[in-house]
Amino acid sequence: MLKGRATADATASYARRFSNLAGNFRPMLGCSVTSIGIGTYLGEADEETDRAYEHAIETALAGGINLVDTAVNYRFQRSERTIGKVLAKLTAAGTLKREELIVATKGGYITFDGEVPPDPRRWFEEHFVRTGIVAPDDLVDGSHCMTPKYIGAMLEMSRQNLGLATIDMYYLHNPETQLEAVSRKEFLARIRTIFEFLEGAVSDGRIGVYGAATWNGFRAEPTERGWLSLDELMRVAREVGGDAHHFRAIQLPYNLAMPEAVTRANQVAGQGRVTTLAMAEQLGLGVSASATLLQGQLSRGLPQMLRDAFPTLKSDAQRAIQFVRSTPGVNVALVGMKSVEHVREALATASYPPATLEELMRLFKRSGDP
Ligand SMILES: NC(=O)c1ccc[n+]([C@@H]2O[C@H](COP(=O)([O-])OP(=O)(O)OC[C@H]3O[C@@H](n4cnc5c(N)ncnc54)[C@H](OP(=O)(O)O)[C@@H]3O)[C@@H](O)[C@H]2O)c1
Repeated sequence: MLKGRATADATASYARRFSNLAGNFRPMLGCSVTSIGIGTYLGEADEETDRAYEHAIETALAGGINLVDTAVNYRFQRSERTIGKVLAKLTAAGTLKREELIVATKGGYITFDGEVPPDPRRWFEEHFVRTGIVAPDDLVDGSHCMTPKYIGAMLEMSRQNLGLATIDMYYLHNPETQLEAVSRKEFLARIRTIFEFLEGAVSDGRIGVYGAATWNGFRAEPTERGWLSLDELMRVAREVGGDAHHFRAIQLPYNLAMPEAVTRANQVAGQGRVTTLAMAEQLGLGVSASATLLQGQLSRGLPQMLRDAFPTLKSDAQRAIQFVRSTPGVNVALVGMKSVEHVREALATASYPPATLEELMRLFKRSGDP
């Protein structure tokens, strides 16, 4: 296993190597982090896709992207294993230092081992139930589990797959799924046991910080069942880990078609309400935006007003990425890329400075406004 973790000095030195990428690096959790991170969610669970990701990740890391996002269940562990392979290769060759890179992964969903087995139910029984990792009642929605035992097993699986002694950011994967099945009180009790476990994992060096990677949770209204309250999560983190707790990062979808992170004041702050991005900024959390291209759909056919708003950019994908990476409060825009050509396009976007607030605000201007 590769020892070490992302450090302030090494990530700053990585950033200095890419002086051609104006505004591509910004501070996050004490490190210099790329404004565009590479995601590894989509794609078939096969060798051809492994190879494509391998080349894409290598191109990204060699070109100025120092954050990789994954999850244990992405392509049934194949995405993590591919990242591990690239990291081992580049660090052995001396072209990348472990400490220059921020690796984020997630646990929460049941995963197979590389492919769907012929009898999934039997496989699950054999690997998770008989081994005592999951009790039948632990499972929510047929696929989600949030017990310390399960998350502990997933964390170990991820460390092995990635070949990393320390994972920089460890997320609970879509924890809001649990709210579909249990009361908010029970949910927060489950969160507490997991945060206790994760604070222990920080203490023994298996992770750097932890957080919540979500789909609906931080975009929902407080009246919705699956809404996640940053205030509640922070309260539990403080109770468990004191003021120096390590609940330090969140992830939520944010793109031109899913703008709730900046348009919906759904977080409780004192007597008032603020947006999730504003609250995360107040709390000093690292924020990664997922689905920057709405799973590829925003890479073509954007309206003329977007071309007008970002006149120097060359393609709709670049405009959609620019929107996300330029939004105040977003540290990293995650773009899923298994194609080298797409990585090059992301790097070309990163060579432009982020859009100014004035340029962004033009997008929110109603027709007829002066
Ligand atoms: N709940 C969660 O925790 C959650 C949910 C969703 C996503 N995420 C994370 O966020 C990452 C990004 O989201 P995503 O992968 O779902 O969607 P995305 O980034 O919005 O879109 C990825 C898709 O866009 C394509 N693409 C990338 N660059 C392009 C370009 N320049 N031109 C045209 N197409 C382009 C990719 O193709 P190729 O792959 O062929 O290059 C891929 O099919 C994920 O990979 C994952 O790490 C987390």
